[in-house]
Amino acid sequence: ATAVLFHGARQAGITTRAQAVGHLVAFDLAAGADRRATAALLRRWSDAAAAMTAGRTPDDDDQIALDAGPCALTVTFGFGRTLFPKIDREPPAGLAPLPPFAADALDPRRGGGDLWIQIGADDAPVAFHALRTLQRRAAGTARIRWQMSGFNRARGATDRPRTARNLMGQIDGTRNPRPGDTGFDAAIFVGPDAPDTWMRGGSYAVVRRIRMLLDDWDRLPLDRQEKVIGRRKANGAPLSGGTETTAPDLVSVRPDGSPAIPADAHVRVAAPESNGGATMLRRSFSYHDGLRPDGTPDAGLLFVAWQADPTTGFVQVQRKLDGADHLTRFIRHESSAVFAVPPGAEPGDYVGRELLE
Ligand code: HEM
Repeated sequence: ATAVLFHGARQAGITTRAQAVGHLVAFDLAAGADRRATAALLRRWSDAAAAMTAGRTPDDDDQIALDAGPCALTVTFGFGRTLFPKIDREPPAGLAPLPPFAADALDPRRGGGDLWIQIGADDAPVAFHALRTLQRRAAGTARIRWQMSGFNRARGATDRPRTARNLMGQIDGTRNPRPGDTGFDAAIFVGPDAPDTWMRGGSYAVVRRIRMLLDDWDRLPLDRQEKVIGRRKANGAPLSGGTETTAPDLVSVRPDGSPAIPADAHVRVAAPESNGGATMLRRSFSYHDGLRPDGTPDAGLLFVAWQADPTTGFVQVQRKLDGADHLTRFIRHESSAVFAVPPGAEPGDYVGRELLE
């Protein structure tokens, strides 16, 4: 029953290991709710999150998670572009609307939102309890606009800690930047000189619901699946050779002149080397919401990418992927949102105070 500290310079749930269960939920302010009401809500939410992540019982508890510890619960709060006119503030540059992409098939009712909460925990009732508790505290101030639930492999499911697999069966997350890497903080967190002082030490989350066309994918033979990504499915090694952690060789060609990693392979097109160094931290959850009317699975990736600036992170890479990435044929981007995630709060304080007071 590990506890992840809620308070600190940065919000938890960004560099924290992705938990087994996740809920992403966006709210819109109720008519008439203003900056003061929003500040009071963030105070209520922060107090409840601090209690639950420490394994304490918040006031008026419904006892859903009463016997469980914190189970690595994290609660991360963000602000969407549409919030700002309602609280009489200018949105930061990082919240500029994303450009349209050719591969988009977006449902606006499942995208956007004034406020966002990302919940993660290693236990499903603990995650549900956090969701219910925070939703109840929003009553009268904000109502849910959309909600999505996802999962990752449970702790202890593998013989040793391994990179997770997504629902296409690929090892996913290998080349994520890691805290401690040169340039990690500058790429993922808003720097100390940013004009929006309340965002210094914060980050931007790009959230995309990406459905996988799993029936089409399953019909593709293994060697072709591996060419779509540019890595072996069994062990995640790049097609240029080595093991999972060997850097992909984007230069070498085979004796017949073809590149070891195909020109349209996902890892080649998405790599920082192909995008002027563009870097983001991918921290996604898989989702499965049953069958669609046509009988295909409604399943895929709740893709969450973290960066200091979406323009030089997600947007730069997605522009390149759009059309050029072989994987595009097997996925559909169904919803989209961007949130400014301010720095963390110290004990006694609440998230977003510098913006809201
Ligand atoms: C790498 C899968 C969407 C950006 C990878 C890898 C896999 C993968 C298997 C290789 C392992 C790794 O390094 O993590 C998928 C799937 C997607 C998806 C199944 C959709 C359902 C996206 C999107 C973006 C993205 C939308 C960004 C716009 C990246 C980046 C890498 C990567 C930057 C690392 C490339 C490198 O440096 O080698 N992805 N991906 N992916 N993906 Fe995706």
